[in-house]
Amino acid sequence: MVLSSGSFVLPRLTQRLCCSVQSCKSSLSLPALQSQLVQTPGFKLNKPSSLFQTLFHTSGAHSFLSPKPHTTPKPQFQVRNMSNLPESTVYGGPQSPPAQRFNLRLLQRKYKAGEPITVVTAYDYPSAVHVDSAGIDLCLVGDSVGMVVHGHDTTLPVTMDDMILHCKAVARGARRPMLIGDLPFGSYEQGPEQAIASATRFLKEGGMDAVKLEGGHGKRVVAAQALAEAGIAVMGHVGLTPQAISVLGGFRPQGKSASTALQVMEHALALQDAGCFAVVLECIPSPVAAAITRGLHIPTIGIGAGPLTSGQVLVYHDLLGMMQHPHHAKVTPKFCKQYANVGAVIGAALVDYRNEVSSRAFPSPAHTAYRIDPEQAQSFERELRERGLTAAAEAAAEAQVRDLTAGEPRFKTQAMD
Ligand code: KIV
Repeated sequence: MVLSSGSFVLPRLTQRLCCSVQSCKSSLSLPALQSQLVQTPGFKLNKPSSLFQTLFHTSGAHSFLSPKPHTTPKPQFQVRNMSNLPESTVYGGPQSPPAQRFNLRLLQRKYKAGEPITVVTAYDYPSAVHVDSAGIDLCLVGDSVGMVVHGHDTTLPVTMDDMILHCKAVARGARRPMLIGDLPFGSYEQGPEQAIASATRFLKEGGMDAVKLEGGHGKRVVAAQALAEAGIAVMGHVGLTPQAISVLGGFRPQGKSASTALQVMEHALALQDAGCFAVVLECIPSPVAAAITRGLHIPTIGIGAGPLTSGQVLVYHDLLGMMQHPHHAKVTPKFCKQYANVGAVIGAALVDYRNEVSSRAFPSPAHTAYRIDPEQAQSFERELRERGLTAAAEAAAEAQVRDLTAGEPRFKTQAMD
């Protein structure tokens, strides 16, 4: 599609269009926005119907405001990930590539092609951005947040409100992975009505694409079926189900005898029959996971279940080696491979920072970012003296001399000007 305009009107109108979409999505319809642009003098819109798709990817609810890939000729349209922030902020922000939201159709395609499905948990904006940037397929906002973020010994204290808050943050950061919210303990066990009410909050308020529940028996299966029938994509979870710690007697592997292995398999089959799109297999022997994976026609996502599943999931903090506290070290499961030792890096950086602040090495002139014009500085100093604030005036004068002799700050951005 060609948008031809030699003038400044296009970026301005595009900006207005973006603002309208961002701030009052429903107040101006797409046709109205299109005709506004099409009627603007100097514009030629070869394919009016594809205007919106050109400005924004419209393939999924979450990609609503995704920027188009940069193309030439200019002008280019840059729509930020965070619609409520201006283009230039003091802190900047991640520039993640535009992408299509991973969805059940793509999951199905990957599964059928026998390609391993990648899943990682995330709990907040930065972890969501990391998971997104790494090209992970599914992002689970797990109730493991209770342990790895909130420091509880189990997942049981996690509430719906906790989960919704974390889901919202993740939905802002992860634009490509399919987002799955973990129904917390106490939010679905009573039956279908409770499960649908909780799951609806995850989708409406939390910005999730799907939910996960634990257990493959009794009311859990009924709840899973009700969710699927209500049009809510639901993932099952069998084997070690941490919310059942009270009856399991601890975080213990499951399915280690023929009878319990069969039980795990039956639970997985029941969840599949109920309409789950995938099932997590947690902490079970590999042959049991292999049998379940072969026996089902939906993907299995393993965690501590060996290599023969359709995909793998790990907890963000565990795989990054974020756990430094002895309590956390105890909780990190033994099946987890640590791909980094981020906790040690964070610890060392914080000690460096503490030492540099204590010794006044930070901020050095290189990080003293904001300058005041010498004339303005003098007038400020004069005003301070006139008000009897002599010590303050002297402090300002000394700092100005220091700045002027230090040269330019190292990190200069538009936002400082
Ligand atoms: O809460 C969680 O993170 C999970 C995964 C371990 C599957 O349920």
